[in-house]
Amino acid sequence: ISRTLVKHALSSEAEIPDMLVQGWVRTRRDSKAFSFLEINDGSSVASLQVVADEGIPGYERIAEMTTGAAVSVRGALVAGQGKQRWELRASSLELVGAAPESYPLQKKGHTPEFLRSIAHLRPRTNLFGAVFRMRSRLAASIHRFFQSRDFVWVSTPIITASDCEGAGEMFRVTTLDVGDAASRDTARDFFGKAAYLTVSGQLEGEAFACALSNIYTFGPTFRAENSNTTRHAAEFWMVEPEMAFCDLRGDMDMAEAFVRELIRDALENSAEEIEFLNRFVDKGLRERLEHVKDTPFVRCSYTEAVDILLKSGRTFDFPVSWGINLQSEHERFLTEEHFKSPVIVYDYPKEIKPFYMRLNDDGRTVTAMDVLVPGIGEIVGGSQREERLDILLENMKRQGMNEEAYRWYADLRRYGSVPHAGFGAGFERLLMFITGVTNIRDVLPFARTPRNCEF
Ligand code: 4AD
Ligand code: MG
Repeated sequence: ISRTLVKHALSSEAEIPDMLVQGWVRTRRDSKAFSFLEINDGSSVASLQVVADEGIPGYERIAEMTTGAAVSVRGALVAGQGKQRWELRASSLELVGAAPESYPLQKKGHTPEFLRSIAHLRPRTNLFGAVFRMRSRLAASIHRFFQSRDFVWVSTPIITASDCEGAGEMFRVTTLDVGDAASRDTARDFFGKAAYLTVSGQLEGEAFACALSNIYTFGPTFRAENSNTTRHAAEFWMVEPEMAFCDLRGDMDMAEAFVRELIRDALENSAEEIEFLNRFVDKGLRERLEHVKDTPFVRCSYTEAVDILLKSGRTFDFPVSWGINLQSEHERFLTEEHFKSPVIVYDYPKEIKPFYMRLNDDGRTVTAMDVLVPGIGEIVGGSQREERLDILLENMKRQGMNEEAYRWYADLRRYGSVPHAGFGAGFERLLMFITGVTNIRDVLPFARTPRNCEF
């Protein structure tokens, strides 16, 4: 007899005379001649109630079937006597793995900090089960979104020589030291050459877009910035579409369609999880998601945004003037207080943006755009790329970049150059937005943040 997942048992159309359920005990209550066990197998926030009568095979070890223990139960799915539609009347049960009293998830209501310290056990809670099922579905949803539009998924390298964002926030790749001390430094590089963990697959993505028209990357990226915030991780996943024959407007349209479609998909396919999160994590979650799904995003130029901030009468910790990088407090004011909606800010000052963004005719702004959302701030950053060779080379020179190292990138402008654009969406930030979870550490299975690499 093959195993049935709890979620399928609970949504059964009819009674089932014989089934096998395997999972972990959440609670157990004993009566005189029988016991109730709540079994969860991570397929649902709901647990299946098992009724086990004294005397059935396996009952002699019932005392060891404590919270956290792994059990295997065979029995009949029958109408439930309590609030649940179905319960399992055990015909036999087996203790697969005991969990002694030291099992850390004994009672409900642990702090997020404590749960982070047991990252290997927290997936056994309802909250993290829900978040990580949604993480998996969001990944599938992202692939569906692009595949259904004929975008080609490109696996860009994780080990790379180029610093896409030019911010110098890269982890260097080294090998373990086996050589002699004298040659140690270069010998420990990537076969004698400097190599790093990628901060973005964009540059390589551009090469493929300028051949396959519409592509996307989806994979891990790394940032060595020492940011201790609730929305920065040293290792995170990014989705980066890149589109040939596309300008900034097309890029913004795609980013907006992408975010709204993912939300629609989550509301449809993760209804149970969203209901749970709406109840226990963020009371406004469902309403916010419904609103974002149905309402076009506000679009506002950087210059207009600065104007709004200056006229707001607010004093910000970081003073506002044209030319600054918008800080999270500014982004939050725009989305949460001023527009009360996701906002796409575009046309940023060229001085604060990387070399690859296309220069506007005004000579001082570039075709950059960020999607900002309430509660988080930036979830997407993108731009139309500079397709004109002369201006690109000038930018590289001005920023002191090694032209030889980026010759291949400039080649894309030497041979059949086209206007093209793309964006990067932070997978974890999207997930935070869709789950209402407010700390990036709680949407990553094993978060890598500064000084956090214990697992
Ligand atoms: O704005 P960023 O740095 O843009 C790029 O890397 C471009 N090359 C993307 C492109 O145009 N193809 O990063 C893009 C997104 C951000 O909007 C944010 O959602 C996420 O990646 N992100 C982070 N997420 C978690 N932790 C960090 N340290 C992040 N840094 C960026
Ligand atoms: Mg950005």
